[in-house]
Amino acid sequence: MPDKMPIAVLISGSGTNLQALIDASTDPDFGCRIVGVISDRPGAAGIERAGKAGIRSTVVAWEDHDDRAAFTSAVCDAADELGAHALVLAGFMRILSEEAVVRYPSRIINIHPSLLPKFPGARAVEQALESEDEVTGVTIHFVDELVDNGPIIAQAVVPIEADDDVDTLHGRIQATEHELFPTVISAFGRGDIALVDGAAVWDPPQGVLITS
Ligand code: GAR
Repeated sequence: MPDKMPIAVLISGSGTNLQALIDASTDPDFGCRIVGVISDRPGAAGIERAGKAGIRSTVVAWEDHDDRAAFTSAVCDAADELGAHALVLAGFMRILSEEAVVRYPSRIINIHPSLLPKFPGARAVEQALESEDEVTGVTIHFVDELVDNGPIIAQAVVPIEADDDVDTLHGRIQATEHELFPTVISAFGRGDIALVDGAAVWDPPQGVLITS
């Protein structure tokens, strides 16, 4: 069996998506090997999750760097040090500068809690609730130089219920994330997903996953 793709998982917070990847990676058929976790916050709960799973973690604190460029260089250096081939952004709430896309071309994937291009940024769940929309969802996409932008790999729809608040809606979005993210990352590791002429191509083709 060929070596699995080594990935670094970047986090900022609770790390439930990291946990979903850790759990999925115990399956021998999972396409990636998590070689390390990089957090921009020293106290992120995801660091403990990594420790429990025996996965190395590194803190690259935003505050320790003069600007976004210096922070991005340090994150890429940390990922190189871990031997990562790709970066998986699992609730990583910092924007990386262009250097990351240059150093990890077509090899950075992000998950976002909305149906992009709707509601990019840090208030995606709140904005979905404030909207008149009946559905929101999850997007997994290749990262480019812009915020929550880049070719979409997969999306899943999550209904917005009349009595939802941020916690209930985000909870259902996250339940969907925890299913879809490992599926996508595993397929990426196996080489089934690639960026071709600026578009994400998943072979064999997958449809949008509709949840209820
Ligand atoms: C997830 O819902 C993820 O989609 C979101 O942060 C949450 C992290 O949760 N990411 C973004 O908003 C990126 N713009 P987790 O730390 O429990 O995985």
